[in-house]
Amino acid sequence: MKSVQTIEEIFDSNAAKFGNRVRKYKGTSASFFSEYKGEEQFNFIYVDGSHCADDVVCDAINAWRLLSRGGVIIFDDYIWEFYPKTRDNPVTAINAFLYMKKGEYEILDVYEQLCLKKS
Ligand SMILES: C[S@@+](CC[C@H](N)C(=O)[O-])C[C@H]1O[C@@H](n2cnc3c(N)ncnc32)[C@H](O)[C@@H]1O
Repeated sequence: MKSVQTIEEIFDSNAAKFGNRVRKYKGTSASFFSEYKGEEQFNFIYVDGSHCADDVVCDAINAWRLLSRGGVIIFDDYIWEFYPKTRDNPVTAINAFLYMKKGEYEILDVYEQLCLKKS
């Protein structure tokens, strides 16, 4: 009988074909950003973890720090509505972030995702 794979086993199997181009971190995004000591900047970041506005705004600010100039960041679920209060959903955090960083990005695309290029 075939055994059921865990989510992590499926991830590992999907990532294996990319060899050492993929590094796996286990934990929350907050723990990643506080523990990550790498000097490198990233040219692409996809934000799609917690959908709670408090977490999304932290992820946005932390990710922005690690995004290289000319790099692209995508926020998933820009118009996702789950929490009854609009201010608890990602849209509030992402709009606040857009306001904070006005003049520092170009909007490449917007619909269910918001895609920015860092100036
Ligand atoms: C909407 S899913 C998207 C997963 C993946 N991007 C995909 O498209 O398959 C969100 C994932 O973020 C994880 N997550 C929730 N809160 C998180 C947090 N604070 N830090 C990191 N990941 C979180 C959830 O467990 C879930 O696996």
